[in-house]
Amino acid sequence: MNRTRRPLIAGNWKMNHGGASACGLAAEVAKRTREFDAVDVLVAPPFTALAAVAHELDGKRVDVAAQNLHPKDNGAFTGEVSAPMILESGAKWVIIGHSERRQLFGESDVAVSEKVAAAQAKGLRPIACIGETLQQREQGKTLAVVGWQPERFVKTFAEKPGYGVIAYEPVWAIGTGRVATTEQAQEVHAAIRERLAQISPELAEKTLILYGGSVKGSNAAGLLGEADVDGALVGGAALDAGDFAAIAGAAQALSAKLR
Ligand code: PGA
Repeated sequence: MNRTRRPLIAGNWKMNHGGASACGLAAEVAKRTREFDAVDVLVAPPFTALAAVAHELDGKRVDVAAQNLHPKDNGAFTGEVSAPMILESGAKWVIIGHSERRQLFGESDVAVSEKVAAAQAKGLRPIACIGETLQQREQGKTLAVVGWQPERFVKTFAEKPGYGVIAYEPVWAIGTGRVATTEQAQEVHAAIRERLAQISPELAEKTLILYGGSVKGSNAAGLLGEADVDGALVGGAALDAGDFAAIAGAAQALSAKLR
């Protein structure tokens, strides 16, 4: 964490919690994080719960994100949801290019960059995910992968430095209980920031780079203590309001100390 960037803790609920139970979890998250004034917090429920959760969180400190979007505003795209629809639901953010979308639904870097551009153009803040597979790490390709994955979307990020967020999520650490060491996370985050600095120092300084992959209350402080780790994208632990609030609490404590 660094004093110039306000940390963000984002909870990705994936395909868990429909409307009623989503509202309950959102209310509990808001309650447990309401004193945290040095960290931003958001939750990403499934599409069908977006509007209800946004309504539940109205006037509270916790923001809402969608987990995906279609780059077009409307049209014959069965099963898809657009940026204007997401905004209308009350969400202000969108997660794009999560490794599950890339691996299970064939989302390419081109698709990710189109979605990032569409989100930003409509006023929906993008959280673009990148990260290497276990095989790529074992082959020593980690830094190359996180170098080329953002190539297309960083141009959009550069138009509005600090608006878009990058989430570094090593695929081998997602939902596996295997977490990157603090050194591994910092090494990759620093490399990503260096790449952003080649575009502009302002972009590098303002862009939040979140870590994701088996973040829990018990390991958050170590990861967030690294200079280039500006927050977390949390999956499993985000389904437990207590554990999620503990992660946000770790960010709050570190951030408050820096201010
Ligand atoms: P995890 O998921 O925290 O369950 O590893 C992270 C993510 O997929 O964003």
